[in-house]
Amino acid sequence: MRIINFGSLNIDYVYRVDQFVKPGETKHSKSYMVNSGGKGLNQSIAAARAGNEVLHAGLIGRDGGFLVEKLKMAGVDVSLMTQSEEVSGHAIIQVADSGQNSILLYGGTNQMLTEGYIERTLAEFKSGELVLLQNETNLVGEIIGKAADKGLMVALNAAPYSMALNAYPLEKLSWLIVNEVEAAGIVGDEGTDGLLEKLAKAYPETGILLTLGVNGARVYQHGKHFSINSCQVEAVDTTAAGDTFTGYFLYGVLNGLSMADTLRLATTASALCVQRPGAADSIPVMAEVSQVLENEVFGQLEVKQW
Ligand code: RIB
Repeated sequence: MRIINFGSLNIDYVYRVDQFVKPGETKHSKSYMVNSGGKGLNQSIAAARAGNEVLHAGLIGRDGGFLVEKLKMAGVDVSLMTQSEEVSGHAIIQVADSGQNSILLYGGTNQMLTEGYIERTLAEFKSGELVLLQNETNLVGEIIGKAADKGLMVALNAAPYSMALNAYPLEKLSWLIVNEVEAAGIVGDEGTDGLLEKLAKAYPETGILLTLGVNGARVYQHGKHFSINSCQVEAVDTTAAGDTFTGYFLYGVLNGLSMADTLRLATTASALCVQRPGAADSIPVMAEVSQVLENEVFGQLEVKQW
């Protein structure tokens, strides 16, 4: 089954630091890299490396040719992408010695999608195929509405959270993918307790994936709940870990794997990702993920269901 990702693409400017720069502070970085990134691009690559047939839709600027090449090299179909004379989206990323990141975005061409382009692109797809979205482009709410009305499944990774999300027709989603910050924003809650239950109550027909970093992940679907622990690994750079989880998770749910196997696959893939620097370049291929899982390199991954 095909995935069509109306996905953001960013040029990632990555600075390695001991700790994040504080307000009012100026500091030297230890290293600097320019990488291919963007939650959309990373998720297309993760989904393709997992084994999905992926088409990426989106707009790059005059400086974004290498992002398209990166997608192509990962086996993603880019024939529906367009280019403009504006500048591409970019991200300023600090990666601390702890492996955590802090990301500042500039939307660029990611924020310049037009309704005409969306309609022309959606016309290429039929009922049952899946549209993937992140909250780094414009017109996200419109794409959800139009795609769902056409009978397409829609998965939204609601990252990063913005208040605009609360006005989107989230009840039309087949899958809502969030971390704790995004989940709390959507349910309008300050705390982190019971977030999945609150989302499930608000959107009972939608499958919900809540990723919890070192605390693993949880899923709600059709009245059932699942949880998985995380792999105990040393993180070098957590950038794109969530994107990797999303791409592999979609492989499992679109290819009839059990939820337990789907979660084991996605958890292992993102554990491999955090052990490498970079965004798109740190996403593993399926052969590697399967081998690590088979050999229980990261120990046993326990999936609970209730
Ligand atoms: O999820 C990681 C991504 O977030 C980075 O590649 C950066 O571009 C931002 O979009």
